[in-house]
This record gives sequence, structure tokens and C-alpha cells, in this order.
Amino acid sequence: MQRLLVTGGAGFIGSHLVDALVDAGHEIIVLDDLSVGKRHNFAHHLGNARFQFVEGSVLDARLVGELIAQVDAIYHLAAVVGVKYIVDNPVRGMRVNIRGTENVLEAAQRTGAKVLVASSSEVYGKSTQVPFREEDNALLGATSVPRWSYALSKMLDEHLAFAYTRQTGLPTVAVRYFNAYGPRLDPKGYGSVIARFMTQALCGQPLSVYGDGLQTRSFTCVEDTVRGTIAAMMSDRGVGQAFNIGYPMEVTIVALADLVRDAVGTGVDVTYIPYERAFGTDFEEARRRCPDVSRARALLGFEASVSLSDGLPATVQWFKEHRDELNSA
Ligand SMILES: NC(=O)c1ccc[n+]([C@@H]2O[C@H](COP(=O)([O-])OP(=O)(O)OC[C@H]3O[C@@H](n4cnc5c(N)ncnc54)[C@H](O)[C@@H]3O)[C@@H](O)[C@H]2O)c1
Repeated sequence: MQRLLVTGGAGFIGSHLVDALVDAGHEIIVLDDLSVGKRHNFAHHLGNARFQFVEGSVLDARLVGELIAQVDAIYHLAAVVGVKYIVDNPVRGMRVNIRGTENVLEAAQRTGAKVLVASSSEVYGKSTQVPFREEDNALLGATSVPRWSYALSKMLDEHLAFAYTRQTGLPTVAVRYFNAYGPRLDPKGYGSVIARFMTQALCGQPLSVYGDGLQTRSFTCVEDTVRGTIAAMMSDRGVGQAFNIGYPMEVTIVALADLVRDAVGTGVDVTYIPYERAFGTDFEEARRRCPDVSRARALLGFEASVSLSDGLPATVQWFKEHRDELNSA
């Protein structure tokens, strides 16, 4: 049994991670400012002596230090998440994602507690070297295009973590998530296309596809995302490295629209929305996203196993049960 801090533990991935860690018998402290995360994501653990929720910010260095002094390891997931949010709130996004991570690493260095940093497939930027390997070059756009600041903040988080490992010996590891989906996916959250399609499909509205819909993504069931995250934390072989955590199947957004329509059982139309209308005139898209998963397989013994068609039904079920909230979203 370990004492673990999960920052961002009230959020989508964080709350599933907390479920798995509590189930495994660990003691968990969640730090979340509830800016996006929700109490009902962890309400089922309240009353469990092995679970504690602290409402606060990773920007509060004193609080972060106090909590880290009590734990063996930190899963650092708290962040302003997603390109759309960062484009709308660029200063907050950069501040939380960079200063927050630095606060965590600085406090962890005082105790030697291992830190896992949640990074993103966004760090590969516009790279066309698909599938993406962790050691490949990244290709980010110009600093005048706000969209890239999210990728850059996550890349800087990785650099910060690995700098602490190299210079101070602090054990760190980074996980690069590829589009997680599953129950508790927040339609108002990081801008998941699955959340948008499900909400629209269940409300009988056309599915809005940005651009030509032929861009690809790799969608990962949150169960797999969580398993990969825990594997990265538990392994000593991953220290000072980044790991792709994703299901290695490339799916175009139009194909995803079909899969969602099938899973929901609806015949709603698709409408195409130019990127400029969705994100502003200076938007640049990432055309393809697919992870090479050989490093995680070799060093962590981890491989995602849930295909989209197997993972979507539970997500549809959850969206159906929360239809009322979706209608007001
Ligand atoms: N969901 C994905 O597919 C995906 C893909 C790539 C990377 N990630 C990364 O995974 C992590 C979790 O993402 P998620 O999808 O669960 O998003 P989420 O928004 O549901 O979770 C992030 C959590 O951080 C909290 N938070 C935000 N600012 C905070 C602050 N200053 N102090 C404390 N808590 C704060 C939010 O309230 C939220 O609960 C993030 O670091 C994100 O960048 C997610």
C-alpha cells in the first residue's frame, strides 16, 4: 500500500485513475481546484478512510508542498486541458501547465517522491512521421499561432521533469495520452470529439465535423489510459522517459462519426464546419495522430487492448444516463 497524490483527480482521466488506485488498496489524496473536475466523479469514495479530497490549486506552492510531504508518489494530471481551452485562456493555460508542474517537481525533489507527468500526443505537433515514436522530432507551429502553446506547455513539462531527474536524481516519468474516452467524459471539457458527437447524436442534432473530416486520431479507452499510467509509475525502467499511451489504430473523424452513430443507434446527419469558424482564423490542424507503442510494450509490458467498437458502448451508456445534463450543456 502506498500513499499517493493525484492532482487533477476530480477530472476525467484522474477520477478513473483514482478508482483504480483505491481498488488496488492505496491511500489517495486528490488535489483539484474543480475548475473542470466534478465532485460527483469522486463522490463514491467519500467516507472511505483511504481517500481524501483537497480543494485547491497546483499554483498554491505551499499547499502542494504540504501534500507532497505526506505521499510516496505523485500522479500529476492537473492541467488546463485541450487546445480549445488554451486558445480561449492562453495565460491561465500556460501558467497552470508550467508553473503548476514546477511546483510539483520542486516539492517532490525535497522528499524524493516519484512524479508522473501527464503529457499529450499534442507534443508531436504537425509531424507527419506516423506512427509517432517517442524519440521522433516534434514539429510545432509558430508562436504566433496560439494553438501550439498547449503542446509547448506539455513539452516543457516533460523537459522540466527530466531536468529534475538528470540534475537531482528525482525519479520522473511522462505519459503522452492519445485521445482518451469513456464514462465521465465531459462535453464541456477538453474538446473531445467523441463527447461532442455523443452529445449531438443523443440530442438528435447533426454531428459537427471540423475541416474535411479526413484528419485522423487514435482513440483510447480510459481503462487502457489508466492501466498504462499505473504501469509507467510502477516500472523503474521508464524513469526519465516519455511513453505513448494510446490505442494504435488511426481513425478518420468521418469514420468516427459513423461508429458513434452506430453505437448510439441514430441516423443524424453530419455537418462540416471550417476550422476557422470553430477555432479562429489562425488555426493549424494536426492531420494525423497515431502512437507507436513499442516502447511501452518493451519497457512497461503495457499495451492498450480495448478497440473503439468495444469501448464505445459503455461510453454511450454513460451519456444516455446523463442525458439531462447534456441537454443543458
Ligand atoms: N483526455 C485526453 O485525451 C488527454 C490527452 C492528452 C493529455 N491529457 C492530459 O491528461 C491530464 C488529464 O486530462 P483530462 O482529460 O482528465 O482533463 P480534465 O480537465 O478532466 O482534468 C484536469 C483536472 O485538472 C483540474 N485542474 C485544472 N487546473 C487546476 C489547478 N490549477 N489546480 C488543481 N487542479 C486543476 C481540473 O479541475 C480537472 O479536474 C491533463 O494533464 C491533460 O493535459 C489528456
